[in-house]
Amino acid sequence: MATERIFSGLPKPLYVTNYGAAYVGDALHLLKLLPRESVDLVITSPPFPLQRTKSYGRPAGESEFVEWFLPFASEVSRVLAEREAS
Ligand SMILES: C[S@@+](CC[C@H](N)C(=O)[O-])C[C@H]1O[C@@H](n2cnc3c(N)ncnc32)[C@H](O)[C@@H]1O
Repeated sequence: MATERIFSGLPKPLYVTNYGAAYVGDALHLLKLLPRESVDLVITSPPFPLQRTKSYGRPAGESEFVEWFLPFASEVSRVLAEREAS
């Protein structure tokens, strides 16, 4: 998929280098702006079930955390391209 098509729906990046672009925003919102099967690799460090309230909420227990994270997982699954390793 052409790079221009992948990035055309995204807002202005924070910065761009020869290796890619960095975006600041709600990951769920940004993921929804990407075409399906347009991404080769996703690396994430999501919030884990927290003891203390954070500005982005407090998924209190494991089951609540899973409920909170599932929409992200669903979008990650949608944007990941199915390709064989070469
Ligand atoms: C466990 S920390 C990750 C820390 C990061 N890996 C680092 O080394 O600094 C989780 C981060 O996810 C961010 N976060 C929470 N909800 C988010 C969302 N919907 N979109 C983007 N980031 C989010 C939080 O602000 C927090 O910085």
